[in-house]
Amino acid sequence: MKQPPKRYLITSALPYANGLKHIGHLAGAYIPADIYARYLRSQKRDVVFVCGSDEHGTAIPIQAMKEGTTPQAIIDKYHQAMKEDFASLQISFDIYHRTSDPLHHETSREFFTYLHDRGELETKETEQYFDEGSQTFLADRFIKGTCPNCKSDRAFGDQCESCGATLSPDELINPVSTISGQAPIKKKTSHWYLPLAKHEAFLRDWILVQHKDDWRPSVVGQCKSWIDGGLQSRAVTRDLNWGIKVPLEDAEGKVLYVWFDAPIGYISATKQWAINNNKDWKPYWYDQDTQLVHFIGKDNIVFHCIIFPVMLKLHGNILPTNVPANEFLNLEGDKMSTSRNWKLEMRDYIDDFVNKENGGDQCVDMLRYYLTQIAPESKDSEFTWKGFQDAVNSELVSIFGNYVNRTFVLMHKLCQGKVPKFDNAIADEKDIQLVKDIADTKAKIEVSLEQYKFREALFDVIDLARKGNKYMQEKEPWIIAKQVADNPAAQQLIDNCMFNCLQLTANLAVLINPFLPSTAKKMCYMMKVVDKMLDWENAGKLNLLSVGYSLREPQLLFRKIEDEEIAIQINKLKSGAMEASPKPAEITSSEPQLKAEIVYDDFGKIDLKTGVILSAQKVPKADKLLQLEIDLGFEKRTILSGIAMHFEPEAIIGKQVVVVANLAPRKMRGIDSNGMILMAEDENGKLHFVQPENVIAAGSKVS
Ligand code: 2FM
Ligand code: ZN
Repeated sequence: MKQPPKRYLITSALPYANGLKHIGHLAGAYIPADIYARYLRSQKRDVVFVCGSDEHGTAIPIQAMKEGTTPQAIIDKYHQAMKEDFASLQISFDIYHRTSDPLHHETSREFFTYLHDRGELETKETEQYFDEGSQTFLADRFIKGTCPNCKSDRAFGDQCESCGATLSPDELINPVSTISGQAPIKKKTSHWYLPLAKHEAFLRDWILVQHKDDWRPSVVGQCKSWIDGGLQSRAVTRDLNWGIKVPLEDAEGKVLYVWFDAPIGYISATKQWAINNNKDWKPYWYDQDTQLVHFIGKDNIVFHCIIFPVMLKLHGNILPTNVPANEFLNLEGDKMSTSRNWKLEMRDYIDDFVNKENGGDQCVDMLRYYLTQIAPESKDSEFTWKGFQDAVNSELVSIFGNYVNRTFVLMHKLCQGKVPKFDNAIADEKDIQLVKDIADTKAKIEVSLEQYKFREALFDVIDLARKGNKYMQEKEPWIIAKQVADNPAAQQLIDNCMFNCLQLTANLAVLINPFLPSTAKKMCYMMKVVDKMLDWENAGKLNLLSVGYSLREPQLLFRKIEDEEIAIQINKLKSGAMEASPKPAEITSSEPQLKAEIVYDDFGKIDLKTGVILSAQKVPKADKLLQLEIDLGFEKRTILSGIAMHFEPEAIIGKQVVVVANLAPRKMRGIDSNGMILMAEDENGKLHFVQPENVIAAGSKVS
């Protein structure tokens, strides 16, 4: 059997200390990492789980400008707030560090010097955007414009807020300074670069050969397109006055690029953890028998799979074993967005649920449950309040909680609250099957967790509880209880059933523990056992509770989520977004309100027909396009529509649409598009189908 690695270092992306983080972040990089860390700890493996605030880069001074304060005040405020929010949601970091810490500055400068002194960096003079008014070079978020990829005007010099594309300032259409709103000029400046092209052979072999099967396909795919697209040298310094000073004589006004120092934050956090715990940090970053796993969102893939590994290799460190990046989590049918206030911050959930009278730890576990159940592991997924309510009420309450509660109630009613004896002599098929189900589930969950398939693993825990309910329902100990007065031997049938139900309950506590730690603890309390029972090695055992042992009275594990609570949240989301949306007077569109006048004959040339979407699929390598098959009554058409960022293909099948049916065909991405569908765009940029009020025949005339 393969020996497990000697130690694990688990990292979650360091969040920028420029604002509170939302549940998309939580689902992407923090909950899965926490489940993994808790699972490994329950196996008594040597695990260090690190994170901290990312406190450099242009995002920080920009937030300071917005809030009319200093960058230092911003990072102090948000570092503390994020640390508290993670703790409230029981993310069990071994350390939550920060990149403004002197230890991190020192570690990053040493790293840069090491690479520089060995000739691994190159210098280049280039022309960069410059804001004359504020005399500032406009790197990263100091410059904004239109995204060349999706045409959104919410693109920065490093990334598009809308489609997530990684950008450079030169790619922006109509760039303007974020500081002054003015068009910038170009000015010469020199910087240090990491020449990635020199490492192409290493990256190809390491990612595309060695990890092609054990990394997520989306991660390997993104790396492949970066490598195939030609690896450019990446600047690792910036002209800024906020950040870690470049440790060289001739580097006045230059700081390390935030994406150079942030991942080094994982190393400095490990160092600080080692100091705090009197341990040696070095094996975690130098010993090949360490498994390094980075949990991130998909927008961070290139930094964790290409740039940082090259830095680590050059610096003599170990490389990540896996980078289980998640896709994005949407909210109620739309992308989460801070600027449009379409989001659910961790803090909001904590205030509205966890800190409420009927909240507490159960509400922490409810959110952890739902976010794992919908984790965007292989494709973008969606948080809806209705989905949250259903997951809690129909699964946590009705399956898991109900099973545990029934077991305890019946234990007290039919077995005086004491663990009964199991008599093998009368064990039947159902008993044998249940024992097998427990062992099989444990093995399945292990495989899933080792492969970072958290959704699947959690599904299997709930499924085991479902099987427990079925077992109890089939055994009907409450019916047998009616026969005991006449036939005392029948009590043994009840005892066998309750013994199994109880051992299954103990197993469920062990298995749910990495996902819902408070629930597992509460179950231990009810079983009057110490938390040590939650050690993973106990899963699969049928003697976790000894015969004769007495149990506490049951407590409900989860409360129901009421319709009213959901309605309040949906209202809050919508009214928050309304407040953030630009009022008509603020809309500064380059398009006039109305196009030039046309005569009736112009309009009469357009043939509009109703249609029905028969099928929809994403167009490979085109983020915005969906390929639709549309029934026009008299014929079926293929139409490409730029709505992929707004709708999941499967969600729009069967929708009625209005089609411009006589539009000349157009080839896009090698596919002929025969027409166009009409959409309406609301004040938030969200698209809506234009369609008849009622269902009418496909091919009906629209005029
Ligand atoms: O995207 C972000 O929020 C970055 N602050 C993540 C940094 S991860 C790491 F490298 F530190
Ligand atoms: Zn974009």
